[in-house]
Amino acid sequence: MSSVGQNVAYRGFLRLVDFLPLPTVRTQRRIALAVLLSQALIAVTGSIVRVTASGLGCPTWPKCFDDSLVPLASNQVPWWHQAIEFGNRQIAVWIVVTCSAAIVLAVLRARRRREILIYAWIMPASTLFQGVLGGITVLTGLSWWVVGSHMLVSCAMVAAAATLYVKVGQPDDGVITSQAPQSSRNLVAWSAVVMALVLTAGMTVTGAGPHAGDRTRPEAMDRFNASIPMLTTIHGLLVALYFVLIVSATAQIWRGGAADVVRRRAVIVLVVAGAQSLIGIVQYFTNVPALLVVLHVAGACSVIAETMILFQVMKPRMARDEVTAVPHFAG
Ligand code: HEM
Repeated sequence: MSSVGQNVAYRGFLRLVDFLPLPTVRTQRRIALAVLLSQALIAVTGSIVRVTASGLGCPTWPKCFDDSLVPLASNQVPWWHQAIEFGNRQIAVWIVVTCSAAIVLAVLRARRRREILIYAWIMPASTLFQGVLGGITVLTGLSWWVVGSHMLVSCAMVAAAATLYVKVGQPDDGVITSQAPQSSRNLVAWSAVVMALVLTAGMTVTGAGPHAGDRTRPEAMDRFNASIPMLTTIHGLLVALYFVLIVSATAQIWRGGAADVVRRRAVIVLVVAGAQSLIGIVQYFTNVPALLVVLHVAGACSVIAETMILFQVMKPRMARDEVTAVPHFAG
């Protein structure tokens, strides 16, 4: 389609969207929260698929079996593996797609600023991408690095959804204002970079461990052949670096007289990351029990979301009359 044709089609789509009721900012924020929760949920249900070894519960993709879209009575695949894998695909299809579509429609209808539209459109686009990656996961027989990449894309989606959640609540005509010293914001930005490395290292620990894929069918499972203690040490050292950065940022936030919301969010990040590390340590020394692995994935999503939210609230877009009422910083 030519660019003129695309423009006409887009304007026609906007006209259709205008038939929807106008959502308040509060409603848009609630939808954005649902998007964030749905992105975290899909990461957690994906981990349930892995720890219950249900990855090939539906051995084909996009259908469950070659000749059936839904699970079938089968001697080869137990019904509960089928149910868990099929449930995960259904959740992917229904909850994430519904929430992603809802946020796009809501922010389009409200004619929000460009950056919000971009973050909103990333949600359905990435869901499509994850659907294809999920298919490749099954078609490559649960190759550890494809399973891991699927997980990392989910982590990126949680980060984008958390950013959208904060941005959508900020006024389009507001003023960008520093609510914390710039040096502390730089430290949080670096902690986010290190967090990405923590997540990648975590993915390699999982790839080498018992929960890399379908352990009931070792022939269908491509594991990462590397020393688990060594990979866990790398993962742990990166976590330690993340803590050095986030604790230093928090110290500057408190000493520098940052806004209350920033202080509160910094403490939340420390608590969530501390709890997540405790789960990590306990799971390592107790032979990675399934429940703790699932909790560790939920914890990873919380650390990602809270770190991104902290970063955003440090330099928000604020209504003009609010700006004069709060302390602000250079930068
Ligand atoms: C900020 C803190 C942490 C974050 C964000 C984090 C994140 C992750 C992620 C994303 C994975 C991959 C999960 C999966 O694909 O199932 C993982 C795996 C793992 N992490 Fe962490 N982690 C943290 C702290 C720790 C600590 C302190 C330890 C202990 C040394 C630890 C031990 C492990 C182990 C043993 C695995 C492999 C579990 C499995 O077999 O599936 N983690 N972590």
